[in-house]
Amino acid sequence: MAVEHFQYKGINFSLPIYSVESLDFAENQFQALDSDVFNVTYPKSGTHWILEILSLIRTNGDPAWARSVPLWLRSPWIEAVDAQIKGVEPPRALCSHLPRQLFCKSVFRSKAKIIYTLRNPKDVMVSLFFFAKSVCCYQDPETFEQLLEDFLKGDVLYGSWFDHVKGWMKMKNEGNFFYITYEELLQDPRDSVVRICNFLGKDLDDAAIDSVVENSTFKAMKENEMSNYSHLKLDYIDESKSAFYRKGISGDWKNHFTVAQNEHFDKVYQEHMKDCGFNFFWEKK
Ligand code: A3P
Repeated sequence: MAVEHFQYKGINFSLPIYSVESLDFAENQFQALDSDVFNVTYPKSGTHWILEILSLIRTNGDPAWARSVPLWLRSPWIEAVDAQIKGVEPPRALCSHLPRQLFCKSVFRSKAKIIYTLRNPKDVMVSLFFFAKSVCCYQDPETFEQLLEDFLKGDVLYGSWFDHVKGWMKMKNEGNFFYITYEELLQDPRDSVVRICNFLGKDLDDAAIDSVVENSTFKAMKENEMSNYSHLKLDYIDESKSAFYRKGISGDWKNHFTVAQNEHFDKVYQEHMKDCGFNFFWEKK
């Protein structure tokens, strides 16, 4: 199937998942509530993982809701054409991949909270390569090399990873903004859940926290039919090309990048990130 891409204010999106109207709605008309929590990511950085964690925190660790309602109804992507936001009862947890400059203006006038999740961009790139092969809104990338070049130039859906991260991380000292890395989630999921609860002001007991962690593991999410897109197969995602819950590890880039690609990536990364003033978990020796 041919995939049609378009630009909205200089950023690439794809039809029919997004439209100029849906993006304009998200940016200018969507009304945030003070009780909203926004799960914001650059694609392939752990969006679904945080979504599942937020669903489970909302129910104090009870998995019944996450196992009975599809994730796109629990936490719609606000910029999507068919985002079913009206069906979500407050306090809402809503998802978005929008860069900060296109994000809902009303959020910045509200007390709504934002959780921003980042991931080593090399692993984002690998995850994107496989995702793009299987999901309807992406052109099947011709080669890894080609997608890598497009990724480094920002000529991919949702634009440049560097701009996305630098844009959102300007909020890092604001009280309603919390950031976490995919790698921290992997290394210590329990501590990550506790930190998210603290940010949200949710006081869960130990058993509830354990349940959030157990029900949001890679295996649990892959098996949860309400979280694994099995109802949408072939229309939206063709898992014969690549599983949506593919590997769930950090460092997979080492299995895919050549030495030259890695050096090139590091050089571009340095150019973009040298003045940004923060070191991410994946950069520590
Ligand atoms: P891989 O393709 O590297 O396996 P997003 O939700 O932003 O689209 O990110 C998808 C990536 O997160 C995929 O990475 C997916 O496997 C991984 N992922 C999703 N849920 C996870 C979990 N519970 N634990 C670890 N990784 C998870």
